Amino acid sequence: MTRTNHHHFLALPLSLRMVYTMTLVVLGLGYLFAMIHIFSSHAGRDGKASLSVQDIMIAYSGSESDTKLESALKGPMQSMLPPAESHEIIAWVRAGADQAAYEKDVAGIVKNRCLSCHDGSNPHIPNLSDISGVMPLVEKDTGMDIFTLVRVSHIHLFGITFIFFITSIIYTHAHVRPLWFKCIVIVVPFLTIIFDILSWYLTKMWTPFAWVVLISGAFMGLSFAIQAFTSLYQMWLYKMPPDLEESGGQLPVL
Ligand code: HEC
Repeated sequence: MTRTNHHHFLALPLSLRMVYTMTLVVLGLGYLFAMIHIFSSHAGRDGKASLSVQDIMIAYSGSESDTKLESALKGPMQSMLPPAESHEIIAWVRAGADQAAYEKDVAGIVKNRCLSCHDGSNPHIPNLSDISGVMPLVEKDTGMDIFTLVRVSHIHLFGITFIFFITSIIYTHAHVRPLWFKCIVIVVPFLTIIFDILSWYLTKMWTPFAWVVLISGAFMGLSFAIQAFTSLYQMWLYKMPPDLEESGGQLPVL
């Protein structure tokens, strides 16, 4: 069996194993917060509290029945105001979003609950300080616009590639049999980034692609978990099999 000069974790200096360990721990925490963020920005858009395929469809392609303001009030902005006030705003939208009624019933709620953030000081979120900023949000919800998708796509493509480059390089030091399994665990997360991002755009055109977003997300998480747990386990709790031990931890080519 031809050996390489790429070594198993246990033949690496302690200091390098510490770099790998701490990197995996912090990336794992990052993954956890990414999950919380996905949940808080998408769950509930369809009116039910959990995160569903329906929520993903609405986030990307819009909702037949809701306006952007309603989707936000049911989804990410839900915690900003009590349900009664939320219903009042939604009732105003449903009644035709009349300007005079806005000043009478809605302006006060928005002033109290929304302007602390939506006062125009943050250019990335809608300015709600007067009705001209509110009206575009009560047109039919067509989901995330292409510019937002393009911006988020390039951030994800670069960012997630960095993450999996790091975790995969670490994972290459593990002893995993059969070899094809190790290779799949390395290739899959990179494929899921591509599938995930492509299907954001495809979901806009045909909503069932939301399933691809969900499934690729699941496989990405699974690959991350396998890479991180295998690496951490083999760094600290593992005993090399005799043939690997004999070669001084040098991993075989195949
Ligand atoms: C604590 C700060 C904060 C408060 C208070 C707040 N928002 Fe937001 N809002 C944000 C941020 C940040 C975003 C963009 C990120 C996101 O979509 O989660 C946003 C996004 C939105 C969007 C756009 C969603 C989209 O899909 O483009 C709407 C509409 C909205 N808010 C309405 C409201 C309304 C109405 C209120 C008051 C009931 C409110 N917000 C209160 C911070 C806030």
